[in-house]
Amino acid sequence: MRPTPPRSGAPLGIAATWPYTLALGAAGEGALVPRSRLAQYHSKKAPIATRSERERAFLVGVELADSGRLLGVEDSLAELELLAEAAGLVVVGQATQRLRTPDPKTFLGSGKVREVQSLVEETLADLVLFDDELSPRHQRELEDLFGEDVRVLDRTALILDIFAQHARTREGALQVELAQYAYRLPRLTRAWTHLARQAGGGAGRSGSVGGVGLRGPGETQLEVDRREIGRRMAHLRQELDKVRAHRQRHRSQRRKAALPTVALVGYTNAGKSTLLNRLAQADVFVADQPFATLDPTTRRIQLPGGRQVLLTDTVGFIQKLPTALIAAFRATLEEIGEADLLLHVVDITHPHAQAQSEAVMRTLEEIQAGEIPVVTALNKIDLRPDPGFAIDRVDDFERAVPVSALTGDGTESLLNAIELELYQGMSEVDVRIPYSEARLASLMREQGQLLEERHLARTIVLRGRVPNHLVSAYRPFMKSASARQANGTQDTEPE
Ligand code: GTP
Repeated sequence: MRPTPPRSGAPLGIAATWPYTLALGAAGEGALVPRSRLAQYHSKKAPIATRSERERAFLVGVELADSGRLLGVEDSLAELELLAEAAGLVVVGQATQRLRTPDPKTFLGSGKVREVQSLVEETLADLVLFDDELSPRHQRELEDLFGEDVRVLDRTALILDIFAQHARTREGALQVELAQYAYRLPRLTRAWTHLARQAGGGAGRSGSVGGVGLRGPGETQLEVDRREIGRRMAHLRQELDKVRAHRQRHRSQRRKAALPTVALVGYTNAGKSTLLNRLAQADVFVADQPFATLDPTTRRIQLPGGRQVLLTDTVGFIQKLPTALIAAFRATLEEIGEADLLLHVVDITHPHAQAQSEAVMRTLEEIQAGEIPVVTALNKIDLRPDPGFAIDRVDDFERAVPVSALTGDGTESLLNAIELELYQGMSEVDVRIPYSEARLASLMREQGQLLEERHLARTIVLRGRVPNHLVSAYRPFMKSASARQANGTQDTEPE
């Protein structure tokens, strides 16, 4: 049997006080083991220290009849390959299949499974990486078919793994750890069968408990594992609440500073961090890798007219960003929802720039940020020798400005476009404000257009237009259901 090395503990460093840790395969298989037994688990399962070569991945993509996908299967696999490399894997081959619906057991059709199986043997792959999200059952069935030397993972597991490597703040780390547990919980059975097999070959046969973190018969162990993970998840949620409360205080302070916020959004690797560095001369981590930025970073920048705004970097988007991950990063993404303007960075030299841009727009709608005004930076123009190239594409995007974050070309025009949009662009607002916020009525009267003002017993109904840089002050009081939901405010007073 080829060794399947677990990593030492969970990638994000589970608190030392918690007596259990997750011993992991590449990202899909895992076993909860008591800390005290971790060394034993490692020594039984695989000598990690002796294994230095990178793991070999075989990619599998399917073209589903009605997937509504932005990228075709080949392009999606090309993207998966980049993600795999970012996670430290070597891609050794790939296979695709056109399917009407996935097989309920094996995802692929049986002929294709056999084909993949022999290719995996030929290429000595350690893991088979599916471009689509697999159910725990798919994963189990496929692992049984491919044999115990080969692990089966999907895009979600891979992205979680990359996220885990890149989380740099406490909040990011907590979010990823929670998402990893949520992903692994329904897949624990597999981990258990792994352990059961090992115990069976060793101490387990004599009836005594094996030295791999086993403390009782199978189902009980599994239940214990589930309960422990449940507890750990509850603890992580509490920690996250604390960190978020702290961030919320920061945000309200920022709001009090009354500087408009511009959030950088864009497909992963489009150049958001580089542009933030260029515009703010900040030193944000830049790497030619997907998801180099996982936590928002905020800098103050000056617009050509002398006004200042806050510019916030955010996590990169991607097509098929698993919904579970969007949920996990909702708090981080809320930063986007509260922005006055979005600066959408598009790598205009990318062959799928348009599809990437659409994927970003879709995600923005999912997080209820679809109505925030957008300025688009068509980035990386330095990579193309024909200067007209980006200008020809300007009309395909919202308020687009060709730039190079690397050389600084076009950034002055970009700042002008931001200033224009923030201070001359207007947005409609329809709000119900408490009397304590009556200043918002005079603000609208003075700086925008007041179309309706009605005084009810406890609230004032306001409708009108305000400059974009003021919209975020009104957002907590928006009447639209989605905005209210996003802000947790109630609209109970009868007319
Ligand atoms: P994520 O953190 O993954 O979301 O990426 P990002 O959008 O923040 O991209 P980042 O700024 O990390 O840049 C990705 C890669 O593109 C890096 O190698 C940058 O050096 C490169 N890059 C960014 N802007 C430009 C540009 O204007 N021209 C060229 N040639 N390369 C650029």
